[in-house]
Formats: sequence, structure tokens, C-alpha cells
Amino acid sequence: MITIDSLAKNFLAPSTTKRGLSFRRSAPHVVKAVQQVSFSAPNGRITGLLGPNGAGKTTTLRMLAGLITPDAGSMSVDGIDVVSRPREALARMGVLSDARGLYPRLSARENIVYYGMLQGMEREAAHARAEALAQMLEMKALLERRTDGFSQGERMKTALARALVHDPANIVLDEPTNGLDVLATRALRDALRFLRTPEGGGKCIVFSTHIMQEVERLCDSVVVVSHGRTVASGTVGELLAQTGEEDFEEAFVELAFAEEFKQARAAGAAA
Ligand SMILES: Nc1ncnc2c1ncn2[C@@H]1O[C@H](COP(=O)(O)OP(=O)(O)O)[C@@H](O)[C@H]1O
Ligand SMILES: [Mg+2]
Repeated sequence: MITIDSLAKNFLAPSTTKRGLSFRRSAPHVVKAVQQVSFSAPNGRITGLLGPNGAGKTTTLRMLAGLITPDAGSMSVDGIDVVSRPREALARMGVLSDARGLYPRLSARENIVYYGMLQGMEREAAHARAEALAQMLEMKALLERRTDGFSQGERMKTALARALVHDPANIVLDEPTNGLDVLATRALRDALRFLRTPEGGGKCIVFSTHIMQEVERLCDSVVVVSHGRTVASGTVGELLAQTGEEDFEEAFVELAFAEEFKQARAAGAAA
């Protein structure tokens, strides 16, 4: 189970201003990437973090994975605080980041086993687990190939197997279907649906996306993120009821772009 409470993170982005024909460095710009993100993701459920590009999904998940420290707020994994006990929290999580980052000179199997050993597994156990995951993800034919030259779908499967090697109870995926074709997307969905069931381990799965159809097909509950804030959460049915819409795309647009609509209306009224 993953709980995130009032998370916030600013970045200082370097900026330049134009003076005549030249550009000068000026005071850094404060980017409020995450301002107030809160949600709770239970075991045996797929929780979708849905938001437009730039909403703060990746920044939130990078904080959860211990890659950057939050300015405010708290996060826990199975009750373990991520900031004060990062090693214990991370050991309970499998993270598929948006970068995928595989070692190109290693085979798929070596990528998976190496990561398992970094997680403290015995070599034999990591190999056995690589075999089992390759079976589940239908990637046995890839195991002995070096990963450079892998297609997007093949990279995703390898990165997912690597994230799952230590059999974590919590699985965190940042836009996992980006760049995947329809078959690879279906294979991923099937794998996540299986991992959610009791036979699959009843995992807690958190999944970010900007695609509402993805959420409708896969997620048990949805957290809508916009401008660095959680703006709504519930099942697809609950979000439809809340907005009074019949179509989930309409509901999402209404929830995620409420601020833009308000500004546009104000501008219209002023004109
Ligand atoms: N390292 C960084 N430095 C400066 N700004 C950043 C950095 N990372 C993210 N941002 C900004 O924070 C905002 C949220 O980004 P991100 O979390 O990647 O959104 P999403 O994953 O929802 O598309 C964006 O405006 C982005 O430009
Ligand atoms: Mg992102």
C-alpha cells in the first residue's frame, strides 16, 4: 500500500532574458512542479495517476522512488516513510521509470539478474525469477539478447521484469505504455491485471498516464492531477457522477482544465 500526503516540490530553472541582440542569464525561474498531491493506493488494486503533460506525475513518482527529495509532504510504502527509511521503502517497491534505462551491453537476462542482486538476491534465485518473469511477460525469446537494438515493447518488458525481480508488493509505473504498439500495450495490461489478483500476489499498482482510455480500461480508481495538485479522485463512475458527464473524456477535461476554463471565461467577460 502506498500513501502520499500533501507532497510538494519546486525546481529552480535557469532562465535567460533577451537584451537587444544578446541573451543574458537572469534570476532563476521557480517551477512549482508539485504543489499538493495526495492519494492512497491500496493492495490488489490498480490506481491511475491521470493528468495532462506537465501536471507533475513524473516528479511525484520520482520522489516516491527516492530519486529526489520533496520540499514538503510525506510518502509511505506499507507504512514505511520513504524520506526517513528509503532503503526499506525502496525494497518494497518495483519502479518502472519513464526513462527505462537498460544496460545496452548486457542481455535482457543479465539486466534482470544484475538488478536482483543489487536488491540483495542470490544469483540462483535471481536467475529463477528471470525465467518465471520471462514466461509471464512472454519474452523468453529475448532473454539472451543484448538490449541495444530492442524495440520499445521489448525494452518495456525487460524494464518491467527488472522492476519485478525482487517480487515487490508495490509496483510503480510512469507512463508505461508510452511508445508501445497495441499488442505490447495489451500484454502490459494483462500482466498488470494478473499482478493485481490474489494468484498474482495482490500487488498495489500505481500507474501514471495522460490517456483517459488507458485509465478506463485498467484502473480501479483514478487520481486526477493538474498543475501539481490532486484535483479529484475516485472510480471512473464516481468521477462521472461528480461532473455530471456521461463520457469520461469530458469529465477528465472538466476536472483537469477547470483553471483554464475559468481564466477563459474571465477573459471573455472582461472583453
Ligand atoms: N528537473 C527539473 N527542472 C525544472 N523543471 C522541471 C524539472 N522536472 C520537471 N520540471 C517541470 O515540472 C513540471 C511537471 O513536470 P513532470 O512531473 O515531468 O510532469 P508530467 O510527468 O505530469 O508530464 C513541468 O512544468 C516540468 O517542466
Ligand atoms: Mg511524465
